[in-house]
Amino acid sequence: MTTSFPPGFLWGSATAAAQIEGAAFEDGKEASIWDAFARVPNAVLNGDTLDVAVDHYHRMPEDVALMKQLGLHSYRFSTSWARIRPGDRDANPAGLDFYSRLVDQLLEAGILPWLTLYHWDLPQAVEEKGGWANRDTAYRFRDYAEIVHGALGDRVQHWTTFNEPFCSSLLGYAAGVHAPGRREPEAAVAAVHHQHLAHGLTVQRLRERGAQNLGITLNLTNSIPLDAADPVDVEAARRFDGLQNTIFLDPILRGEYPADVRHDLAEFGLDEVTETGLVRPGDLEIISQPLDFLGVNHYHDDVVSGHPLEGADDPHLVDTGRPLSSPFVGSEYITFPLRGLPRTAMGWEVNPAGLRTLLVRLGEEYPQLPPLYVTENGAAYDDVVSPDGAIHDELRTKYVLDHIAAVSDAIADGADVRGYFVWSLLDNFEWAWGYGKRFGIVRVDYDTLERTPKDSAIAYSAVIKDAAAAV
Ligand code: NOJ
Repeated sequence: MTTSFPPGFLWGSATAAAQIEGAAFEDGKEASIWDAFARVPNAVLNGDTLDVAVDHYHRMPEDVALMKQLGLHSYRFSTSWARIRPGDRDANPAGLDFYSRLVDQLLEAGILPWLTLYHWDLPQAVEEKGGWANRDTAYRFRDYAEIVHGALGDRVQHWTTFNEPFCSSLLGYAAGVHAPGRREPEAAVAAVHHQHLAHGLTVQRLRERGAQNLGITLNLTNSIPLDAADPVDVEAARRFDGLQNTIFLDPILRGEYPADVRHDLAEFGLDEVTETGLVRPGDLEIISQPLDFLGVNHYHDDVVSGHPLEGADDPHLVDTGRPLSSPFVGSEYITFPLRGLPRTAMGWEVNPAGLRTLLVRLGEEYPQLPPLYVTENGAAYDDVVSPDGAIHDELRTKYVLDHIAAVSDAIADGADVRGYFVWSLLDNFEWAWGYGKRFGIVRVDYDTLERTPKDSAIAYSAVIKDAAAAV
């Protein structure tokens, strides 16, 4: 496979605080909505919690050494709001100190820190005040972001406001399958808008403070009608595209919610701008601050149908892996038939060409598009440890290499992609799936917490070295 990447292309790996840190109640950290959600019976598979996770909080130096050994250029991680500013109190120095030490160690190892301010772990105390359904949360978020920038802004150059707001708004507040587990469509649409507002307010504030590389990460997909000649499938794909992609892209990049989404969600207040309503005068200007990059997380395409899935128990819900906010589907069907492609342990279809299409399409559809970074891509598989102790994860290795080739193809087609981060550095807490789904290129033994690079890590490390040699 021939690949080619521009000079300076950034190779990294990604994690998120809640998924790896553990130390959930140590050194002044208080509960996040995920700590609370994990304690709700049947919310997380096997009752797994984030209490220990992969103990990164205590093993951080070892993990940075691992990154250096693999030759990563950059490490994408998130800071935990509940560790840094629990409730309304002052900043927690011990929490900030952890991230300060992490950043120092990364810089010492020659690794660029790529910081995300929100990867889903809202302080439970803020949820108890209404969470993202409450407009105040956007302003609280800006305050928290300012504290983080005050502590790390002298050393961290790359700032991402939100990771995948689709999940932390629609999956958390409408589908209820993510924390805080609410099934309230109105609150979910409010959460979408308030996260946008928090993003814009934070970009404004960090820019005033001198930050130069500001962006957001969205999980984007190609929404493909099962039968392009069937108006029912075309309509379902349009509707899904609105909820998954354009409700996020358009306000941020174009300063407006798309007309079709406004129409679809009019009953929730998205269609009007009023002094006291959900969308207020001036909000969209704040939300559409110019950005320096857009992070794209992509794992699979979505083939969408407007007809019931054969054999599905509840045809108003989608199939496994993508529990879309069913309240929005109303009496219509949105289902996700499979194409018969190979699937990962998440049930997600493997189709690297989809990543190429997506990256190219974004540039065509959004003339205002800033440079792109693939901030997540990777795969869960049921790994086996061989008698020699190695993990020959051929399928994950192929997945990663094929998607890297798709990025190279997209660049050749004209997409302005500047970096790729594999998800994930380490096996970790896969949200509602708990520890059962392993995405790491490094295995974590959950009994001993020992780390072992898998074959995919070795292959990825070779890609990084080869790419550097080719420039
Ligand atoms: C997206 C999320 O950002 C990350 O937290 C999650 O583990 C991966 N996708 C895999 O599902």
